Amino acid sequence: MKKQNLVIAGGGSTYTLGMIMSLIAEKDNFPLKSITFYDIDAKRQERVAKATEIILKEKYPEVEEFNYTTDKEEAFTGADFVFVQIRTGGLEMRAKDEEIPLSHGVVGQETCGPGGMAYGMRSIGDMIELINDIRTYASEAWILNYTNPAAIVAEALKREFPNDNKILNICDMPAAIMVSFAGILDKEIWDLVPEYFGLNHFGWFTKIRDKEGNDLTDKLKGHILNKGFAPEDAEIAEDPSWKKTFKQVERMLTDFPEYLPNTYLQYYLYPEKMVDKVDPEYTRANQVMDGREKRVQELSDSITEAGTTEGADLEVDIHGRYMVRVAASLAYNIGDTYIVIVENNGIISNLPDDAMVEVPAQLTSNGPKPFAVGEIPTFQKGLIEGQLAYEKLVVDAYFEQDYNKALQALTLNRTVVDTPVAKEILDELIEANEDYWPELK
Ligand code: G6P
Ligand code: MN
Repeated sequence: MKKQNLVIAGGGSTYTLGMIMSLIAEKDNFPLKSITFYDIDAKRQERVAKATEIILKEKYPEVEEFNYTTDKEEAFTGADFVFVQIRTGGLEMRAKDEEIPLSHGVVGQETCGPGGMAYGMRSIGDMIELINDIRTYASEAWILNYTNPAAIVAEALKREFPNDNKILNICDMPAAIMVSFAGILDKEIWDLVPEYFGLNHFGWFTKIRDKEGNDLTDKLKGHILNKGFAPEDAEIAEDPSWKKTFKQVERMLTDFPEYLPNTYLQYYLYPEKMVDKVDPEYTRANQVMDGREKRVQELSDSITEAGTTEGADLEVDIHGRYMVRVAASLAYNIGDTYIVIVENNGIISNLPDDAMVEVPAQLTSNGPKPFAVGEIPTFQKGLIEGQLAYEKLVVDAYFEQDYNKALQALTLNRTVVDTPVAKEILDELIEANEDYWPELK
């Protein structure tokens, strides 16, 4: 088995320690020769990197080299895989993405609605620059991107790099949901075979089977309807916000029993309730800054100070494990099935070919081979078409620097609908993002 050289772009992320623990847990499946962190924020990255040095020394001595840098050439030269997890504007800008729409009575969310558009308009430019940098120094590296908003980023990257077949956009939400399915079914996530279709953060599981082919969908639905639904992955199981989000799956399934929904559909199907539920002065971004971010930074510091991981509360999470197994399937031509984001090209036969859709695909060293989904029903198709048009208009607005397209996008979004409200929110987002967005004319 060839040992891989891995770069984590966005090394200072709150997800990095979980990723390192996942790489350790998966070392037999995806053995590493070197790990390199790359970030534009040297200080933030160093905090995580110092702890990582100790973790690797104790738990992954097989890694021959660990480096962290803000230099692109040093980072990407020789890379086999680059995991991309950047957040343009940081959690401070996430807070604005959430607060501004909420102050107009509209869903304020990281990736859904106006917040998602604002974040998308920030992410696209940095993602394009980063991919160009990676390709300058590592023309053949696999780029696994889970930078948000993944749907908009995926659409923009497809347009900018139409011939680059080694960029794969992924989201961990379907996997995190499947961890809870597995818990209910008394199985492991890796034992389950999903059928799924949609856009990123906008999809449905149509079937869940085990590896023997037994259909477990009705059992799962019955359990959720009778006993509810809760997050089970370590990273989110105890988080009150995620608990509420998973609980809402029961409600969605009651109202629309056909398929098992992605949790993110709650923002589009119950926008009023989602607005009522949150404190506009203390949004999810604030919770994450005071929660995960603080926890990870303190954990890093305490490992560094102690010089050992002994007693440190380090956990493997599905986010990391999923990405690592995806990488392994690509690296070693394994051909396992994962839910990833790919260009439709007839997979969902009654949606446009050029849509970036989220579906199960077999992953080999030649890339993703998605499975045919066929025709989807009118309700889901209608919802998806509106959302898809919104996503495409956001990307149009970015590339064409077109105010009107941005306004059309927001007006189309189910979380907004009303044109004057869309305009007010858009104008405030433009002001808040003046350091990040292209100028809209
Ligand atoms: C899931 C989604 C990610 C999203 C994250 C937000 O993992 O798949 O796309 O960024 O949740 O979680 P947070 O705890 O930061 O609100
Ligand atoms: Mn996601």
